[in-house]
Amino acid sequence: MKSVFKRIAVLAGLVLFLTNCSQSENDGEEVKYLIGVSQANLGEPWRVSMNREIQEEAAKHKEVRVIFTDAAQNSQKQIRDVEKLMNQGIDLLIISPNEAKPLTPIVQTAYRKIPVIVLDREIESTDYTTFIGADNRLIGRMAGQFIEQLLSDKGGEVLEIKGLLDSTPAIDRSEGFRETIAGNAKIHLVGSVTADWLRDKSEDMMKNKLLEWPQVDVVFAHNDPMALGAYKAAESIGRKETKFVGIDGLPGQWGGLQLVKQKVLQATFIYPTGGKESIQSALRILNHEANIPKRVTLSSTKVTGENVNEFVQANGSSK
Ligand code: FRU
Repeated sequence: MKSVFKRIAVLAGLVLFLTNCSQSENDGEEVKYLIGVSQANLGEPWRVSMNREIQEEAAKHKEVRVIFTDAAQNSQKQIRDVEKLMNQGIDLLIISPNEAKPLTPIVQTAYRKIPVIVLDREIESTDYTTFIGADNRLIGRMAGQFIEQLLSDKGGEVLEIKGLLDSTPAIDRSEGFRETIAGNAKIHLVGSVTADWLRDKSEDMMKNKLLEWPQVDVVFAHNDPMALGAYKAAESIGRKETKFVGIDGLPGQWGGLQLVKQKVLQATFIYPTGGKESIQSALRILNHEANIPKRVTLSSTKVTGENVNEFVQANGSSK
């Protein structure tokens, strides 16, 4: 970026900061690259963790400045956020799209002008430079296999709590999970609720649903916050037998690791945010390195009461 434009961009970045956005703390003196991060929301701890990882990795590179926007779970706002970032003169866009369909055209528009990294949730095209994220279908399958083991020979009733329906992890986790348990005649999927990834929504909905389905043995939620919401709902109506499984495995007080340790959850599956990898990849792209992969698949691990301490120790408990 030419220096006069860089100054304009930095100034504009400050204005954007004052109107609803935030920036990383690099002093900007030797800024060579301006990276825009369009985040789907900052209401969920997993996304706060993703932004923190991005910020920490970017802070290692003085030539990089990062501007963050928060779409607050609103796809129309996220489209406007990307437009604003483009007007700022960003050199590269990192986006974690709230929903696939509505965000596809704006990602395609951005990609015609600058490199784009899509993180965690997919869009309905491959018009981007790189996709970084874990394999959600595989995670769904692993959750299905774990629940099969949990219910063993006796089998039982299972209820699924889905994330936002037009976000691809919700679709892929559900499909992977369902194709696994479909082969087991002893496991009966009684139904599903959609709680849009949100803990409170899950708690509210599950208060009724657990009464409607009094025999449910295991609740599989597409993320740990919704699993916790369901657990709270069960607690409030005195249901002690139901077991809960989630996804994310964040460290910290209300994170999935602590929930497994406290036996609130029987298992969680670590869903890496890819924040660090996105900055590493952005730098390779901006430095015109060869052989940039179209897809970077991050691995996920099952965490249960048996191995949770290893993960708590490795991640620290306060992060
Ligand atoms: C955060 C989150 C995570 C989930 C991911 C899927 O917004 O809901 O809990 O694993 O998004 O995209």
